[in-house]
Amino acid sequence: MGINGHTKTLGVIGRPIAHTLSPFIHNLLAEMLGHNLVYVPFLVEDDLGSAIKGANALNIAGLNITIPYKTEVLKYVSEVDDFAKKIGAVNTLVPTEKGFKAYNTDIPGLYRAMLSDGVDLKGESVIILGAGGAARSVAMLCADKGAKEVYIFNRTLSRAVEIADEVNGLYGTKVVVPMELHDYGKLSGKNYLCIQATSVGMHPNVDCAVMEQGDFYEMIHTGYDIVYNPYETKFMSLVKEHGGQAYNGLKMLLYQGIIAYELWNHCTVSDDIADYVLSKMKEVLNL
Ligand code: ATR
Repeated sequence: MGINGHTKTLGVIGRPIAHTLSPFIHNLLAEMLGHNLVYVPFLVEDDLGSAIKGANALNIAGLNITIPYKTEVLKYVSEVDDFAKKIGAVNTLVPTEKGFKAYNTDIPGLYRAMLSDGVDLKGESVIILGAGGAARSVAMLCADKGAKEVYIFNRTLSRAVEIADEVNGLYGTKVVVPMELHDYGKLSGKNYLCIQATSVGMHPNVDCAVMEQGDFYEMIHTGYDIVYNPYETKFMSLVKEHGGQAYNGLKMLLYQGIIAYELWNHCTVSDDIADYVLSKMKEVLNL
């Protein structure tokens, strides 16, 4: 579709921004759905407040926010979605009459990727590997979606304790339990969904995983890695070797984009379109 007087402008703010895949995802979605919009990268060096104010004045029809501004941007929006408030970081701004409303679609993106793979969190026994920002958000998602129990395994126990306390406090529950890495033998049963929420195993350090012990993987029926490069991480190979299903983080990246696109454009992206965009993402990333 050609650019004309009706074309809406959207984009992503970050620093650096040149490697973002978001323009590819959103412009492809727009082309497939016949929407008259363009989505561009905006490099913001430091004055985020002015950038958001300017975007509002220019009637920018939607923004993604990426590193390093996912928390700082909360100072400049008029409203924050409830789940995003709990996570404390946002990646999507939707224009409203009063200013931008902020959402987090990264974590709902992971959830939608899981649902599309036939995996739900309700009633699940979940193991989370890692206790950084990503792990914290995943723990919040598990509590929010009614997981039965959530064990956070981390090299530094105190960080897992902090997340467990925070999530249990917010949800008035005790389902989240911090664990030492080597204590996995204390878990009972062999029916765990495991979410790998660290950058360990990411290209170029492809030969590492947070857990290397084979018997750990005997307990895992399904593994999700938030990493998508390499396409099959060491964690995923270990899950598969021990008979489990394993998925990488590429669909999570796709669905964080799709959920944002749906919020901006008041539409629903079908599974067929999602599958097509995913195949094209694999192509451009050489995966
Ligand atoms: P993010 O906020 O992006 O999730 P982060 O805060 O840097 O990232 O957290 C990285 C996570 O990966 C942490 O849980 C870290 O463990 P520590 O808390 O012990 O530092 C984990 N991690 C990083 N390298 C690791 C390694 N080689 N083995 C095990 N865990 C590792």
